[in-house]
Amino acid sequence: MADNPSDQDPKALVEAARKAFEHEFERFASFAESSETLSELDLTRAEAEQRALADLRTRHLGKKSALTVSKKTIGRVAPNERGIFGQFVQQTEAEITNKIEQAERVLKSHIESARTQRERIDVTLPGRRPRRGHLHPITILRERIEDIFVGLGYAIEDDREIETDFYNFDALNIPENHPARASQDTFYTTDGFALRSQTSTVQIHAMQRRGAPVRMIAPGRVFRRDTPDPTHNPMFFQVEGLCVDRGISMAHLKGTVAEFLRRMFGPKTITRFRPSYFPFTEPSAEFDFSCFKCGGAGCRICKNSGWIELGGSGMVHPNVLRAAGVDPEVYSGFAFGLGIDRMCNLMYGLDDIRLLFENDVRFLEQFD
Ligand code: FA5
Repeated sequence: MADNPSDQDPKALVEAARKAFEHEFERFASFAESSETLSELDLTRAEAEQRALADLRTRHLGKKSALTVSKKTIGRVAPNERGIFGQFVQQTEAEITNKIEQAERVLKSHIESARTQRERIDVTLPGRRPRRGHLHPITILRERIEDIFVGLGYAIEDDREIETDFYNFDALNIPENHPARASQDTFYTTDGFALRSQTSTVQIHAMQRRGAPVRMIAPGRVFRRDTPDPTHNPMFFQVEGLCVDRGISMAHLKGTVAEFLRRMFGPKTITRFRPSYFPFTEPSAEFDFSCFKCGGAGCRICKNSGWIELGGSGMVHPNVLRAAGVDPEVYSGFAFGLGIDRMCNLMYGLDDIRLLFENDVRFLEQFD
């Protein structure tokens, strides 16, 4: 019986509604009354309490709340007491609303100041210094080489890394059955293109583009199916050099390479040429220079030989000139190519070429 509001004394219903509210409101009252309790609330909890308070308002003042339901029982109140009952309900409602609003205000301002606190920037704190980057050792070396050759009157060519058979092989006088064309030595793409295995490909592009005479160097990435070890990487950098003009001879080649190495490693550097073979040069020679560390006496860097091997060179083969549209009866030229990664190894005393591409910041930071 007591469960059915319509059977209960209307005033008792209002009292019960107020009591139920007081009971639930207790913990919010403490925020409104004591700043200490409030200060213990962090932003997330304060926001959760704000939501809980909104729910509480719906439960105790909403359409389905006990207080609203009690208003409908006014019909059971004696007509001469209805005015007093009405006032009592209104007063109770106002008290509950006031308490909720007071707690809401306190929580709201606490949340606002907590948010401001969180977003505040202390301009007096020391700034965070951005980390300065620096060039990769290969780039440092490449730029030094470029500077020297620009000083000798050479242009710098930058060209594609994916090549056709013509530029990678045919034009360089590398015949069909040459081992360099085998798939175990070269990376072929699906369309029959290949990643260039040497920068010599740029000799052809440069002559086609510029004609003769031409003087250029071409630094860039090359790719070979070499198993990585301390002196090999499947991707590494080379610098190609090409000089074509009337009357160019082996003497020009030797003079140019020797001057480059003197500017690179010091005026006392001696250069040595050894006969060799490359399909695109005739005659061909590999060149070494006297060790920059021991001056030729023998040390760990030059493996006690006094010499450091650097690259290949030679007089441009007439077939190559012809393939690039240059008349070998009128023009002659020399070309050379060297690997930058191994040179980097030597100069910085590294014992493993692979370090250059592992991107370990602890290693790279040393070249700042
Ligand atoms: C050539 O690539 C010729 N194109 C050079 C040349 C140019 C000769 C013009 C004549 C005229 P070679 O295969 O020797 O030559 O390579 C040249 C340099 O590349 C080597 O001396 C070495 O320093 C470097 N090199 C070769 N293979 C690797 C590798 N797997 N990893 C790192 N460096 C390499």
